[in-house]
Amino acid sequence: MMLERVLPYAKTLLSSCIQEGDVAVDATAGNGHDTLFLAQLVGESGFVYAFDIQQQAVDATIERLKEHGLENRARVILDGHEHLSKYVEDEVAGAVFNLGYLPGGDHSIITKGETTISAIKQLLSKLKIGGIIVLVIYPGHEGGKEERDAVIEFVSKLPQKCVHVLRYEFINQQNNPPFLIALEKMKKLPD
Ligand SMILES: C[S@@+](CC[C@H](N)C(=O)[O-])C[C@H]1O[C@@H](n2cnc3c(N)ncnc32)[C@H](O)[C@@H]1O
Repeated sequence: MMLERVLPYAKTLLSSCIQEGDVAVDATAGNGHDTLFLAQLVGESGFVYAFDIQQQAVDATIERLKEHGLENRARVILDGHEHLSKYVEDEVAGAVFNLGYLPGGDHSIITKGETTISAIKQLLSKLKIGGIIVLVIYPGHEGGKEERDAVIEFVSKLPQKCVHVLRYEFINQQNNPPFLIALEKMKKLPD
């Protein structure tokens, strides 16, 4: 038996909750790897909403989808995920956040605790029962620890009857490796 690494485990979790015909969200499109993965999972009858605040990321994501002929399965939105409710009306089966900065881009443009938490709240209300939100958290860069602490504080206090909160982490690795938080919605949350 081999312990699954963090990024493959994120995919395993998303594959377990997203079926053909579902709606899924990539909250941080970046270079489009996760958007493409979600577009493949939702199939021809499903749909993906992807968000990023950088034009470069939106362009890269659309390009990646086009390379695979899947550009019609996703809407790539140049806006922050904290405005998700403006765009997503459907029930969501699964969502992913890959936090931090755009690889190969400007390292000073990073996700931030406050906006990440706002997006998580909006997604929790749109998530199906049994749906999952996966967050891959990178505490190594400047600003990363603040975001990690804010997100952990928020998710640790979610009511356990409504949301199961998992932390998946290799605790003996050096140099602040990424770790994963997954939220599984069990029941509607109180307003
Ligand atoms: C680690 S990268 C994402 C990598 C991506 N999942 C991939 O497959 O390549 C993080 C991205 O989050 C974006 N970002 C930062 N703040 C954001 C926000 N408020 N809403 C949406 N995206 C944001 C950054 O521009 C950056 O492209």
